[in-house]
Amino acid sequence: MAQPIIFDVDTGIDDSLALLYLLSSPEAEILAITCTSGNVPARQVAINNLAWLELCGKPDIEVALGSEVPIVAPLMTTEETHGPQGIGHAELDPPRGGISPRHATEVWIELARSRPGQIIGLVTGPLTNLALALRIEPELPRLLKRLVIMGGAFDHPGNTLPTTEWNIAVDPESAKIVFDAFSGLPADRRPIVCGLDVTELIEMKPEHLVRLARVAGSTPEELLSPDDAYGTRSTASNPLVRHLTDAVRFYMEFHVTHDQGFLAHMHDPFAAAIALHPELGVTRPATIDVELAGTLTRGQTVADWRGLWGREPNAEIVVSTDPAAFFDHLIDRVGTFARTLT
Ligand code: BDR
Ligand code: CA
Repeated sequence: MAQPIIFDVDTGIDDSLALLYLLSSPEAEILAITCTSGNVPARQVAINNLAWLELCGKPDIEVALGSEVPIVAPLMTTEETHGPQGIGHAELDPPRGGISPRHATEVWIELARSRPGQIIGLVTGPLTNLALALRIEPELPRLLKRLVIMGGAFDHPGNTLPTTEWNIAVDPESAKIVFDAFSGLPADRRPIVCGLDVTELIEMKPEHLVRLARVAGSTPEELLSPDDAYGTRSTASNPLVRHLTDAVRFYMEFHVTHDQGFLAHMHDPFAAAIALHPELGVTRPATIDVELAGTLTRGQTVADWRGLWGREPNAEIVVSTDPAAFFDHLIDRVGTFARTLT
């Protein structure tokens, strides 16, 4: 039976691949996509999601707009990381479909209430929408089957400031509301948290795109190279492969400028895979809190692994995984799905 999912995003290049992965996975049923501002403003996030859905022949999935700003912090976006529209060099056809009349918080609450204990929540952007929904429906942690979050950096440097990860840094107050709301619950209610410690192990390289294109039956073979002219466009025959390659190339070019090599950290696809297959990661319980006051560390996720605060764990943090097994799974899924598109 397919697992019903609410997918909350700030699409985003890696959010895009996470969406393609979920659409490619027969064991996932996306009930709705809720959009928050993060990588790019929320309205652009919604357009990106609608465009990917139409490209993939799934135009009927609801796309709802959420908060366009964090609850306290001024909005920051990162077009330099994800491209002017959030999808790198890709230029998707403008979507014909529209944004849902429902607000993202309504979507979270109404769906969770309608199917108690069944729905997986997956958040790969700032936690604004979920925090707002929790203020209205504090029972959400008990109504969801599972929550998976991409966010935070635990025993690992940040990617936004020295100690902060992007999704938490954009809206630290919302992140704190969410982690507080999941405190004091039974172990099987704890959110599974994918921080940079593991997601930076998920290095997509040009050869992964070649393998995916082969599974899709796409030609010609394109091995992206750091020596290619900046912004070289894909000529792949398969539309999904072509647009994905254009998006991911931008992300790889960004990583080069940050001395990380010609590769792309696929944070969000990993979190999506954990949402469907938690066994892909090894987790450890911890109590997570978010620094809101530090002049240098605001937005840092602090994990108490040893119970030093005297508080029960409120999260299961993914501490290790097998990146090669993840990529085999991702390439098989997305490549096989792409083959069905012309
Ligand atoms: C997270 O920040 C965003 O830029 C990515 O989409 C990912 O969700 C990684 O820190
Ligand atoms: Ca994201």
